[in-house]
Amino acid sequence: MEIRIEKTKNPKAKPDEENLAFGKIFTDHMFIMDYEEGKGWHDPRIVPFGPIEVLPSLSIFHYGQAVFEGMKAYKSPTGKIRLFRPEQNMKRLNRSNERVCIPPIDEEFCLTAVKTLVDLDRDWVPKAEGTALYIRPFIIATDLVLKLKPSSSYKFMIILSPVGAYYPQGINPVDIYVENQYVRAVPGGTGYAKTSANYAASMKAQAEAEEKGYVQVLWVNGEYVQEVGSMNVFFKIDGEVVTPELDGSILPGITRDSVIKLLQSWDVPVVERKLTIDEVFEAARSGRLEEAFGTGTAAVISPVGGLDWNGHFIKINDGKTGELSAKIYENITGIQTGEIEDPFGWIVEI
Ligand code: COI
Repeated sequence: MEIRIEKTKNPKAKPDEENLAFGKIFTDHMFIMDYEEGKGWHDPRIVPFGPIEVLPSLSIFHYGQAVFEGMKAYKSPTGKIRLFRPEQNMKRLNRSNERVCIPPIDEEFCLTAVKTLVDLDRDWVPKAEGTALYIRPFIIATDLVLKLKPSSSYKFMIILSPVGAYYPQGINPVDIYVENQYVRAVPGGTGYAKTSANYAASMKAQAEAEEKGYVQVLWVNGEYVQEVGSMNVFFKIDGEVVTPELDGSILPGITRDSVIKLLQSWDVPVVERKLTIDEVFEAARSGRLEEAFGTGTAAVISPVGGLDWNGHFIKINDGKTGELSAKIYENITGIQTGEIEDPFGWIVEI
């Protein structure tokens, strides 16, 4: 399939790179492709960023049949544009599709679509420290019907946004509220899929945590630690790094996987296993919890400075960024931006 390109006649002014928020500004163009039963995915096109006309009966508005991805493009010191493990996002998009009955995409073609769009808007990739061009591919159900069933038509779209740090704290440690009333996901549910409904279900707990002065919630299923609102979570206990195993209720983060591979390459012990919240608090009480940090595309590496569980607050590493967390941050972002050589073959240049 050939991607039709219609360039904007009114290019927008670029934002101030030093003051970028997260996901508020969008570039000049977007990618769209349609799906119809019997016809498959068709009509891939890049058009000026702008409104799409839809009817109120559109099924996405009613039953939330939608999936999305989060990726970033970085500018290297020599001006090259770099994507980080983008084929992994396309693979995960198809795993999410499968879970919510959306037809699979051609991963290679959709990656070409990402590269073509980013290349067209390459002047929008910021280069200030801590910034990137956030790439948001997503798919929505577009049947015009209220019957509860998988849609027979869809739209796949990609939009781009120059972004700064996800948390206002930047890379400073964040305090997190351990949620024990609401549940994000259970084994057998949709937790591993990047489907919009998972994020809608997380908002009430997130809003209540913010009211209490916390930046995010840590989800637990019963007693088992799962993940933080927008990131996977790691704990360094007694010299060993532990992250909850992928039991179907946790998002298989690409940054999570990269951190595991990075730690293994440094011979730092790292395990994926079940981990109870009690064990985390007990480790903190006995002085064995050395560091904690979250990982995600948007959040990158975000040190956790403290945890509140049932009114008990533990401070981690005195509320400061741990040595290992800082080293991981420097290496992951160094590989992403090209300041550090990529020994893993993770980078795809455009
Ligand atoms: C990402 O990290 O890319 C995500 O999709 C998380 C989202 C809450 C911003």
